[in-house]
Formats: sequence, structure tokens, C-alpha cells
Amino acid sequence: MPNTHCEQHQQLYAELDKIIEETGSSKGSLINVLHSAQGLFGHLSRELQEYISDRLDVPSSQVYGVVTFYNFFTMIPRGKHQIKICMGTACYVRGADRIMERLRDELGTEGEEPTIDGLFSVHGVRCLGACSMAPVVLVGERDFYGRLKPDKVAAILEKYRGDGNG
Ligand code: FES
Repeated sequence: MPNTHCEQHQQLYAELDKIIEETGSSKGSLINVLHSAQGLFGHLSRELQEYISDRLDVPSSQVYGVVTFYNFFTMIPRGKHQIKICMGTACYVRGADRIMERLRDELGTEGEEPTIDGLFSVHGVRCLGACSMAPVVLVGERDFYGRLKPDKVAAILEKYRGDGNG
């Protein structure tokens, strides 16, 4: 594993090594290994991709190709709580852009980069399939907020701050 990392990163690489041993270090394991690596590290940096390329003996261009092909994979760090704002038509016409603006104001972020404390990142996504509840926001994989108004945003964020919840 790269020896330039802090202890916590080294532990993550050690865990990844264990997963690779269990999954098998072959080309066929690539997607599973990338999936696990993203779960451990939060995102797939170029360095991490190089590491996986070495360990599985798969060209790094192929690893990069898979990472960029699947929406699920990301090379950008994400917050602990990912906030997805639907920017589909129904949500957009009902004010999704104002929700986005309020979220970014509250969090002090601009693009998809995480907040300085690493707690949140904000992502515009396509239709979440709940247009009758527009505008909708999904926090993490499960917490769904429909018919959202900008003045409710601060209270929602507060739920995820400080209490170790979720
Ligand atoms: S457009 Fe937002 S849920 Fe469909």
C-alpha cells in the first residue's frame, strides 16, 4: 500500500487488501473491488484507481473507464450526508433551484464539494420518481423530503448535525 498516508488511510488500504484477497484479484472482480473501495474511501481518487489497477493487474485506463462509465462511482469526495436535489421538470418548476440556493447558502458550498467539516455535499439529480411531491430532496439513501420549502432547509440540516444521527 502507498506509505505516504496517515494511519487512518493505511488502515483503509489494509481493509481494501483484505477485501481483494476475499474477492479474488482478477479482472472479473474489478467492479466489486471498486464498489468496496468507494464504500471505504468515499470516492475513487486517481491514486486509489492506480492501486487497484496494480493489485488486480488491470490496465489503469480500464479502471478509469469503468469508474467514469457508471454513475454510481465518483472521483469527487462526497459528504457523509449526500443531499440529492431533484432537478427534474416537475421539481424545477416548483422551486428546486431555490432549495438548491438555500442549501448552498446554509452550507457555504458552491459545487458538489463537501462542506469543510465533511458532513454534507449537495448534488442535483434527475427525476427521483416522486413528481407529485415536488420539489423533492433525498438525504442519504432513505430520508425523503417532499413539497419542500426553502425555509425548511435549515431545520432539516440541523437534524443531521451534532447528534451523530445517520
Ligand atoms: S421531477 Fe422531481 S421527482 Fe420527478
